[in-house]
Amino acid sequence: MKFAGSHILSVSQFDREAIERVFSIANQMLPYAKRQKRTNVLEGAILGNLFFEPSTRTRVSFGSAFNLLGGDVRETTGMSNSALAKGESLYDTARVLSGYSDIIAMRHPASGSVAEFAEGSRVPVINGGDGANEHPTQALLDLYTIEKELTFHGSHIDGMHIAMIGDLKYGRTVHSLSKLLCLFKNIRFTLISPRELAMPQAVIDAIENAGHRYTITDQLEGHLDADICYQTRIQEERFPSQQEANLFRGKFRLNQDIYTKHFQSKTVIMHPLPRDSRAEANELDNDLNLNPNLAIFRQTDNGVLVRMALFALTLGVQDIIHKFDHPVHWHVRP
Ligand code: CP
Repeated sequence: MKFAGSHILSVSQFDREAIERVFSIANQMLPYAKRQKRTNVLEGAILGNLFFEPSTRTRVSFGSAFNLLGGDVRETTGMSNSALAKGESLYDTARVLSGYSDIIAMRHPASGSVAEFAEGSRVPVINGGDGANEHPTQALLDLYTIEKELTFHGSHIDGMHIAMIGDLKYGRTVHSLSKLLCLFKNIRFTLISPRELAMPQAVIDAIENAGHRYTITDQLEGHLDADICYQTRIQEERFPSQQEANLFRGKFRLNQDIYTKHFQSKTVIMHPLPRDSRAEANELDNDLNLNPNLAIFRQTDNGVLVRMALFALTLGVQDIIHKFDHPVHWHVRP
């Protein structure tokens, strides 16, 4: 895979070699993310950070990652604050904003919209989530986290058992992660969701074609002995109505009591976040916060490393970052 100057729109662009390249650069980003040193390798470069749908961690971690490499960030948030609300096309928006930026990260509620935008862009575009379709950078940071967590427990991605739980229909992170896992060997998938929110057939076909085993169920009980348990939120914003989303909220709650009774003692719990902490949902209870195998905040920290790596590779500076190193003068928490 050629990174320099390329758009990153889908996980289907990646092979194992490309993933290993991203992870190797991400590992080198740790001292910068931990503020042990800083680099200004991207000084003068501008990230256009365009989020036409709500986001906390993807938007801010893209911005932080770019700042940590020494670049500047210009943002627009929300459809109503952009000229898209006045009928401007994605193509025109891309032509204009790519004149103001060296690279663009974008989220939009419509499937395929980021690829459409990229056609009009003169600079690389990174997909920060397009509707229910894909979230490739989330999948990469999830996979990076899975590799780190399994290595800690003395095992590997090849041969692992992953349980995916919740809204597998509209949850784009599980679509992208499943497709990336198709590049690995002998994985066992347990797909737990209400029947109405089952994993799309195209993803199941990809899992099957990769030679992986899978179980589809609407029951938690008897299915939680996985190496990785990947919980998801009911994606209420993609349902035809709130009433319909309400039918599924809180169906698959996980808490420490369930963990103790049904999980392996080393099962890693993941969630792309945000978790819905309202009482009627509470899919991942706060009583898991002290469980050492809860990896959700390691995922969010890893997101900065992976996004830094993608910026460095896409802008072609991955091999010269250290040449622009500077010391850090402020107090850094260990
Ligand atoms: N995981 C994720 O995409 O979170 P945000 O919606 O906060 O960006």
